[in-house]
Amino acid sequence: SATDFFSAMTSVFPIRATHATSKDRALRSVAMTRVFSGIQPTGQKHIGNYLGAIRHYVRDQERFGGESIFCVVDLHSMTQPHEPDVLRENTFGTFAILMAAGLDPDRCILFVQSHVREHSELAWLLNCVATIGELSRMTQFKDKSAGRESVSVGLFDYPVLQAADIVLYRANQVPVGDDQRQHIELTRDIAGRFNQRFGDCFPLPEPSIAASAARIKDLQEPSRMMSTSRSTDDGKVLMVDDAAAIRKKLKRAVTDSDSEVRYDPESKPGVSNLLEILHGYADVGIAELEQRYAGAGYGQLKGDVAEAIVATNEPIRERYLELMRDRDALAAAMARGAERARVIAAPVVAEAKALMGLVTG
Ligand code: AQP
Repeated sequence: SATDFFSAMTSVFPIRATHATSKDRALRSVAMTRVFSGIQPTGQKHIGNYLGAIRHYVRDQERFGGESIFCVVDLHSMTQPHEPDVLRENTFGTFAILMAAGLDPDRCILFVQSHVREHSELAWLLNCVATIGELSRMTQFKDKSAGRESVSVGLFDYPVLQAADIVLYRANQVPVGDDQRQHIELTRDIAGRFNQRFGDCFPLPEPSIAASAARIKDLQEPSRMMSTSRSTDDGKVLMVDDAAAIRKKLKRAVTDSDSEVRYDPESKPGVSNLLEILHGYADVGIAELEQRYAGAGYGQLKGDVAEAIVATNEPIRERYLELMRDRDALAAAMARGAERARVIAAPVVAEAKALMGLVTG
C-alpha cells in the first residue's frame, strides 16, 4: 500500500524528526525517492539512449508512480550551433519518442525544459556558486569543444544548467548513462556548496547508472560511444529506423578478424558491444550468450542482435509515427506537463532566492 511504501522509503531516506523548521518541511517532501532525468532534442534518439536511459525512465515511472520527472532539455541543445526549425522539429520528435517508449504524461511529469522558466532562473543563481575551475575540468566540455574555433559560453555552462534541472525538483535519483557520472558529481558539489553557504535547500542527488548497457558503442567505431552528433548513419541505430535499416546497419557492424564470440571489450570491442546490445534487448546474461554462440559465426550473432532490436523497437516506432501526426495533442501534453512541473519548481526557486538574500516580493 502507499503507507507501506512511504514507511519503506523513509527508512532509506530518514526524515529529520521534531522541531520541524520550514527547511525540514521542504526536505520532508523528498523523503520519498524522486527521479529526474533529461534528454536532449539534438536529433533522433538512438539505441544507446534507449538502453542507457529511456528504458530506465519507463521502469522508474512504474516504480515511483507520479513522482518521476522527465524533461526534453531543449535549452541544452542550443549550446552547440543549431538550426531553429530543426530544434523545433526535434523537440516534438523527442517528446513523442519518450511517449512511444512508454512514458505516460498521466503517470509521470513529462515536459519541455524551456516551458518552465525556473530552470534558467535557478541556473543563474547556481552560476554564482559554481566555479570556472570545476567547469573547466568537465571531460564532456573538453571533448565537445576540442578543435573548434568558437565555443559558446552556453556549452561551458551546460553542467550548471543541468545541476539546476536536477535540484529544482529536489530529485535524489538521476537515471543516466555512464557518460553523465561526472556531471552528477558536479551537481552534488554545487548543491552541497549552496547548502553550506546559504542553508539547507537541496538534497544531494545520486546517479542511477545501469550495471550494463550504460555505454553502447558506435557500430563502426566500437572504441567510442554511439552518439547522436558524432556517429555516422551506419554507426548508430535510431529508434525511428525501420526493420530493413536496422538489419542493414547490423550486417555492416565492425567486428574483428577472429571468429570467436567472446566478451572482451579491450581486445574485441565490436563483438563485446554486440553482446552488450543483445543482453540489453533480450535480457539474457552475457555469459549465457557466450555459451549460446560458441562455435557460431559473427553473422548469426549480428542477425540475432538485429531481430532483438526490431522486436522491441517496431511497436515504439509505430506509436511514434502515430503520435507525430497530431502536433496539437503533443503540444497539449507538453503544456500540461509544464504546468505540473512549475507547481514543484516555483517554490524551490523562491526559497533559493530568499536564502541567497534576494528581496522577494
Ligand atoms: N551510447 C550511449 N550508451 C548509453 N547511454 C547513452 N546516453 C547517450 N549515449 C549513450 C544516455 O542517454 C541520455 C540522453 O542523452 P542526451 O540525449 O542528453 O545526449 P547525449 O548524452 O549528448 O547523447 P549523444 O548521443 O551522445 O548526443 P550528442 O553527441 O549529440 O551530444 C543520457 O542519460 C546519456 O547518458
